[in-house]
Amino acid sequence: MTIRARLRAPPAALPSGHFAYLPVPDLEEPDINEPNSVLETLRDGDPKRAWARRWFEDPSLLRVSRRYDDRETGLSRALCAEVGLVLGERAPARVLDAGCGTGATLAHLRAHLPGADLVGIDPSEAAVRSARLLLGPGPGTQVHTMAAEDLAGPAGDRLGRFDLALVHLSLGLMRDPFTAVCALARVLNAGGHCYIVDLLRPDDWDGESVPAALGAKDAPERAYLRSQLAASLSMSELRAVGAEVERLVPGVRAEVRRGGLCGHHPSSEAARRIWLRAPRIGGLLASAGARPGAGEQMRTVAHMVIRRDGSTR
Ligand SMILES: C[S@@+](CC[C@H](N)C(=O)[O-])C[C@H]1O[C@@H](n2cnc3c(N)ncnc32)[C@H](O)[C@@H]1O
Repeated sequence: MTIRARLRAPPAALPSGHFAYLPVPDLEEPDINEPNSVLETLRDGDPKRAWARRWFEDPSLLRVSRRYDDRETGLSRALCAEVGLVLGERAPARVLDAGCGTGATLAHLRAHLPGADLVGIDPSEAAVRSARLLLGPGPGTQVHTMAAEDLAGPAGDRLGRFDLALVHLSLGLMRDPFTAVCALARVLNAGGHCYIVDLLRPDDWDGESVPAALGAKDAPERAYLRSQLAASLSMSELRAVGAEVERLVPGVRAEVRRGGLCGHHPSSEAARRIWLRAPRIGGLLASAGARPGAGEQMRTVAHMVIRRDGSTR
């Protein structure tokens, strides 16, 4: 019998009004080498994540995911790029966009960070084709068909190190998000950082409901979002990933927060410091403010920042 089953076993009936001596339950010694179950579920290629990925592979599902993403995720994508750029001390010289999709973030970076070396990776051939079409052949931008987990192998060595790695709305889709985050932490230059923004699965999610704030327009879009929510990580999972990455990758610190501007309340001192360094954020939020539900939508995402110790260049 497992420890939990033993503890759940109903106690023997006690005569009322009597104190009774209850023996200490006969517990098995926990196996300290037993894998952390939260992290195990994030490593095993969970079928929920495979199903969520189909929305970026199957042409009929792709039509739905692209329609929704083009309409609803542009603000979050632009904020991810803008905030990511100012979380470090200096403008990054090499940037990786892991799960670059159709290349919109890379296009945003190329417009605002001329001269930087930009690399996008995505395992979807369709996404990589679209990204290459959008970005054109210009110098300084490359897009590769590759999963973030592959950064842990020789393909990652070939790409080199980065001052900034961005992961926007892609983490929950990865076959092995934990390995991917560790690999991303390892490809950072000293003083570099990785900024991950992802849909947050509420710890008490019922497996069905799709928050109105996400702005689905019809049943196919709700089905798409349900699949993405099912695959996404909860705060406790993200915190477990952050703690384990800190333990395994030397010189790395991880922070996990929810909602707001990089997880900070918009009127907080931390948010103000970001605003001051990234003036375009004001314009982005002002135009979004005119859209009903934009503030609510910002609360549905989680932010993870991983920093590698050391000074930049
Ligand atoms: C919702 S789209 C987001 C794309 C882009 N980051 C954006 O904001 O427009 C998710 C992307 O993650 C990609 N993806 C899935 N598994 C991945 C993995 N293991 N590594 C990197 N990207 C992955 C999908 O192919 C898809 O293009």
